[in-house]
Amino acid sequence: MVDTKTQYEKIKPEIDKAVIEVLESSAFINGKPVQSFANNLSNYIGTKYTIPCANGTDALQIAMMALGLQPGDEVITPSFTYIATTEVIALLRLTPVFVEVDSKTFCMDPVALEKAITPRTKAIVPVHLYGQATPMEAIMKIAEKHKLFVIEDNAQAIGCDYYFADGTLKKTGSIGHIGTTSFYPSKNLGAYGDGGAIFTNDEHLAGSLKMIANHGQSKQYYHDVVGCNSRLDTIQAAILDIKLKNLDEYCDARRKAADYYDNAFANHAKIKTPFRAPYSKHVFHQYTLTLEGIEQPAVLRNELKEYLAGHKIPAMIYYPVPGHKQKMFEQFNVSSQNMPVTDWLTERVISLPIHTELDEEQLNFISSKVLEFLNK
Ligand SMILES: Cc1ncc(COP(=O)(O)O)c(C=O)c1O
Repeated sequence: MVDTKTQYEKIKPEIDKAVIEVLESSAFINGKPVQSFANNLSNYIGTKYTIPCANGTDALQIAMMALGLQPGDEVITPSFTYIATTEVIALLRLTPVFVEVDSKTFCMDPVALEKAITPRTKAIVPVHLYGQATPMEAIMKIAEKHKLFVIEDNAQAIGCDYYFADGTLKKTGSIGHIGTTSFYPSKNLGAYGDGGAIFTNDEHLAGSLKMIANHGQSKQYYHDVVGCNSRLDTIQAAILDIKLKNLDEYCDARRKAADYYDNAFANHAKIKTPFRAPYSKHVFHQYTLTLEGIEQPAVLRNELKEYLAGHKIPAMIYYPVPGHKQKMFEQFNVSSQNMPVTDWLTERVISLPIHTELDEEQLNFISSKVLEFLNK
């Protein structure tokens, strides 16, 4: 699905030098590159504070801990997302409340969100799925009206621009009270291992987030709150600091590949290409088709996936089981929830390879094999 090797080869001298510098410094934990990267990332995202951590799942967990949410508090999140978003809610003994996504953007539907709010609701976690922004302006208005916290799960959309109605431009991850992201290698800003970060403009929250990520420590060996151990390795920070300079270029390359696919599949009766919401600039973490006008979409989709695999083309289903149908959440009695859009998407989505190194020959090969199968 991604080609991190070719991408690395293009920046190899710079990366190798930075890694060797870390090795020679022996400052593997909290070395200088960690703060340097955090500062550069803050400038890029446009938040006052960036707290690096071990991965995007920890980032979500630490964010929820910092908001002081209590067992039983309800956290509203889309059902159609990666398990990391929803899992941490249950892990903290909070109650996940699953809501529908919009059929075009695949992101949280603000109307469904507002309907799901109860007196126990404390936070909202919109997910910028596949690199497309959730309509944050509407979400923030609802949050303000009901005095709720917003944590943006920006793991899949780092680099995405968001345009407000008044023309203001912000990066996703900087709009909610807290933003989180992942540097999993295949992400738009991918490390060479695990990594994550948390963003906020709130000084008090930044202090709590930092403390929680570091064993709840206020000064060495003094632990004021229950925390965890979640650090970004110095080597990963050094690598990410270099890759951050290329992030806009990486997003452009992904958009260019998406343009190619869009043209190749335009007006096909069985294919719906990804919608590009006018309020944001999609960064195509995934290029996800929806199969339409087919009687047994899940069956045909598996056959397409196998057909592509036969031609050495990987394809993935993100995600075959939505949150409300996961066994993990049976305790919350959510499996019978009516989620027609989520269920519809779950049976029909298929993601094609998308990354920064795809050339026209590869794009042509992939799209022609998809068409060859669907035109049979
Ligand atoms: C939407 C979403 N949230 C959270 C995560 C968790 O990130 P990590 O794998 O770094 O823990 C991911 C990673 O795939 C993700 O896609």
